[in-house]
Amino acid sequence: MRRRPAVTPFLGDHMDKGQGRSQQSRLCLLASLSAFFWLALLYFHFVVLGGSSVIHESTQELNPVSLNAQSSNRNTAHPQEVPRPPKVDVHPQSLSNGMSIAQEQQSNTRPTTVHSSSNSQQKPITRPTTDDSSQELENYPFMRALRTVDNKSDPCGGRYIYVHELPPRFNEDMLKECRSLSLWTNMCKFTTNAGLGPPLDNAEGVFSNTGWYATNQFAVDVIFNNRMKQYECLTHDSSLAAAVFVPFYAGFDIARYLWGYNTSMRDAASLALIDWLTKRPEWGIMGGKDHFLVAGRITWDFRRLSDKDSDWGSKLLFLPAAKNMSMLVVESSPWNMYDFGIPYPTYFHPAKDSDVFIWQDRMRKLERKWLFCFAGAPRPGHPKSIRGQLIDQCKKSKVCKLLECDLGESKCHSPSSIMQMFQNSLFCLQPQGDSYTRRSAFDSILAGCIPVFFHPASAYTQYTWHLPKNYSKYSVLIPENDVRKKNISIEQWLSQISPDQVKEMGKEVIKLIPRIIYADPRSKLETVKDAFDVAVEAIIRRVTKLRRDIIEGRTDDNFIEELSWKYALSDEGQVDLGPHEWDPFFEKEKDGKEDSNGSSAEAAKNSWKNEQRQQ
Ligand SMILES: *[C@@H]1O[C@H](CO)[C@@H](O)[C@H](O)[C@H]1NC(C)=O
Ligand SMILES: *[C@@H]1O[C@H](CO)[C@@H](O)[C@H](O)[C@H]1NC(C)=O
Ligand SMILES: *[C@@H]1O[C@H](CO)[C@@H](O)[C@H](O)[C@H]1NC(C)=O
Ligand SMILES: *[C@@H]1O[C@H](CO)[C@@H](O)[C@H](O)[C@H]1NC(C)=O
Ligand SMILES: *[C@@H]1O[C@H](CO)[C@@H](O)[C@H](O)[C@H]1NC(C)=O
Ligand SMILES: *[C@@H]1O[C@H](CO)[C@@H](O)[C@H](O)[C@H]1NC(C)=O
Repeated sequence: MRRRPAVTPFLGDHMDKGQGRSQQSRLCLLASLSAFFWLALLYFHFVVLGGSSVIHESTQELNPVSLNAQSSNRNTAHPQEVPRPPKVDVHPQSLSNGMSIAQEQQSNTRPTTVHSSSNSQQKPITRPTTDDSSQELENYPFMRALRTVDNKSDPCGGRYIYVHELPPRFNEDMLKECRSLSLWTNMCKFTTNAGLGPPLDNAEGVFSNTGWYATNQFAVDVIFNNRMKQYECLTHDSSLAAAVFVPFYAGFDIARYLWGYNTSMRDAASLALIDWLTKRPEWGIMGGKDHFLVAGRITWDFRRLSDKDSDWGSKLLFLPAAKNMSMLVVESSPWNMYDFGIPYPTYFHPAKDSDVFIWQDRMRKLERKWLFCFAGAPRPGHPKSIRGQLIDQCKKSKVCKLLECDLGESKCHSPSSIMQMFQNSLFCLQPQGDSYTRRSAFDSILAGCIPVFFHPASAYTQYTWHLPKNYSKYSVLIPENDVRKKNISIEQWLSQISPDQVKEMGKEVIKLIPRIIYADPRSKLETVKDAFDVAVEAIIRRVTKLRRDIIEGRTDDNFIEELSWKYALSDEGQVDLGPHEWDPFFEKEKDGKEDSNGSSAEAAKNSWKNEQRQQ
């Protein structure tokens, strides 16, 4: 300040008070003070004379502030007005069944042969397909839907779902007749609360106080359909739809007739549904290839090959029309392409984002006193089952906790006992039961317990939309054969994993929680994507890719359906159908699995028996 007294004399004096200044500078000060007074006088003069104009000026001086405020308001408001990019593809790991947006756009400009649809008059023409030279492309009935992606002012562009309004016998009526849904379970209590089932009280403090329900493992039919009602981009205009949802309760339907009914009873609703669907104009758009439906049961319940009553299940998945649709099931077939695995429901169905975050936080902070644990029953009837061995090992280990199921001990099916054990363990063993998959795998992830799988079809080839491609990030694979033949020690195997690695995996598991839970269908999460969101995005990606393939004349002539599990694991464009380390898992069992009299049907039957045992 002292260096600039001349510039700010008045201030300078004030600041330098008591520092002894020369007389001269004081005179200077007086002169400038009087000058100031004169200026002030003149100023007042103009105020009196100019009145309003000066006041106007001064309000204008204030204006920049308010203008700034306005414009900054505009700035903050802006992002909301800017259309969101289509949420087609967010998670790199879930790209397995579709290209990235960049890839798709690139391929849009490739010269290709365009075949117009069969009923149009035009002949196939060869020319570059770009987004703006697309008059001929109008011939494809899905072009309007495809173009909504380019509409920057439409936040739903490319994401619209059209839901068929089915006659109630395909869905609602089944809920009314809930007593008939299962021979052994009164499903009526499980269809309450939009399919979540009765609320769980938190007496033991294992859950949180809200958002927990005694959800039946086969309830996804209803939960998914109700979740769809909250989807933000539903449309009544099917020509805008990126995909078409068929709210048929396929799992509930077959569950009614699996036991003791002839095949015509088991197939009746499926055949009626197909009859209804194929007559709708929406079917004609892509022969049903943009349609999808959900069956909250394992795929083997829908794969009956013959019409013998002794064979298991319905033949829904073998009907030609059904093969054009995508079927979401809790266990898909590794050797078939049109069924897709989605998570079993857990007990947690949060109604808001914060419930999820609080739960994740809590799981991160837990002290886990067991190295590993197992909840389940042995399978003495299955010579190949490793469950007996795992149970023996667990019993002998000081760091393993066991919840045995077969001894009439009801704890094994008590959600709070299971969740408490999982929350207290670092690793949760998830061997196959009657079929490859278990609901338990998702319960363990929900509890932040690292799942240990013994077969890749128990998760890795199933839930490729929901789980990371790199399975070692969040889980452990101990090949069944190693347990069976080499009698390897689970305890040894797991304790060789470094504490740092265990910590990293645990973090990864907890990160997965939002993606594998189904939110409460009666409310809406704000930013969190749940299992439903992930599945719908994947379906939209799949249909969109299919449409682009049709436009560009791309066909998959070399596709080998039997190797579906390999395609599911590969990135688009780099499908390596050569040898895979997991070939032995899938080759050996293939013989039996493909026919309806084989081990898959056995699995389904046993799974049903096991269901009976559980209730
Ligand atoms: C783009 O989306 C907006 C908002 O949904 C809609 O009003 C408009 O008609 C759309 N434009 C076209 C060309 O479809
Ligand atoms: C199948 O069972 C239903 C009733 O359970 C019966 O009405 C029908 O005639 C049976 N169909 C055949 C082909 O046996
Ligand atoms: C399935 O889709 C194909 C076209 O990809 C079509 O030719 C066929 O008719 C469809 N099947 C049925 C039953 O609609
Ligand atoms: C998979 O994850 C593991 C553990 O984080 C890491 O060591 C490995 O390099 C990853 N593999 C690939 C192919 O990214
Ligand atoms: C497997 O190993 C355990 C010890 O780790 C031993 O007690 C058991 O007898 C072995 N079983 C077989 C079949 O070799
Ligand atoms: C199905 O299995 C039974 C025994 O489990 C056998 O008697 C029958 O021949 C098998 N049928 C076919 C078509 O393989």
